[in-house]
Amino acid sequence: MSEINILFLGDIVGRPGRRAVIDLIGKINTELDTLKNQGLIDVVPDFVIANVENASHGFGLTRKNHLELCELGIDAMTSGNHIWDKKEVFEYIKDSQKLIRPLNYPDSVPGVGYRIIEKNGIKLAVINLLGKVFMPDIDSPWNELEKIMEEIKKETDLIFVDFHAEATAEKMAFGYFCDSLGVSAFCGTHTHVQTADERILVNGCAYVTDAGFCGASDAVIGMEFDNSYKRLRTYLPDRFDVADTGVAEANGVLVTIDTETAKSVAIKRIKHVVDFNKENKKMEG
Ligand SMILES: [Fe+2]
Ligand SMILES: [Fe+2]
Repeated sequence: MSEINILFLGDIVGRPGRRAVIDLIGKINTELDTLKNQGLIDVVPDFVIANVENASHGFGLTRKNHLELCELGIDAMTSGNHIWDKKEVFEYIKDSQKLIRPLNYPDSVPGVGYRIIEKNGIKLAVINLLGKVFMPDIDSPWNELEKIMEEIKKETDLIFVDFHAEATAEKMAFGYFCDSLGVSAFCGTHTHVQTADERILVNGCAYVTDAGFCGASDAVIGMEFDNSYKRLRTYLPDRFDVADTGVAEANGVLVTIDTETAKSVAIKRIKHVVDFNKENKKMEG
């Protein structure tokens, strides 16, 4: 049986999120034994996918950060409702080889809703979709996914879906829908809190309601408490700021897929915590 491993990281939020991801990928490449001993990751993943909708100061993705994440070795970048927040994305999205915006935006919207990425002769389709419950009123993710499955299956049966949605029930129902269509792995994103419900669904689709986020640990889904509190308590407009408290985490899942059947055989939650205060002291020492 031959297998591939996919590391998927949930919404990267600002600089602390980028630093946590850089730290994790760096350790996978140079200190895999340390991660193994921590019971975290014991293989170098064949594909790394990350959701980048909040990677630049919590809102969108600048050209500079796009390049930084490309150079880090991330193979595909999914996104969500915040992908348009940095206006420069409209300029570079057409040239990006890795960025994916949700498929169920109208056709006139720039960018692509899925990509087929190829490494070592293995093709993996990565699809990004937005949910509709408590989200912008966009096209049906159900219809859009159903429409493109045939086209994708002509190229590969290995299919990964990032479903960016708010409501748990919609995510679960969409996960089962993906499973019924022959999708290999489904990861929910957008709510930023990792759920402990990873499993393999009946037809072999790996599933987690939310993969979690990458960002500051002591924060409100990556943002500072003070601003969040003020907005929620008073309903007055205020800008959210990314929290930067020194401790950050990278959350996601590691999915193992059997390449012959295109079914998943394992899904494991990942939570990598880095105390940058300690790391800095180590460097100074
Ligand atoms: Fe997000
Ligand atoms: Fe989002």
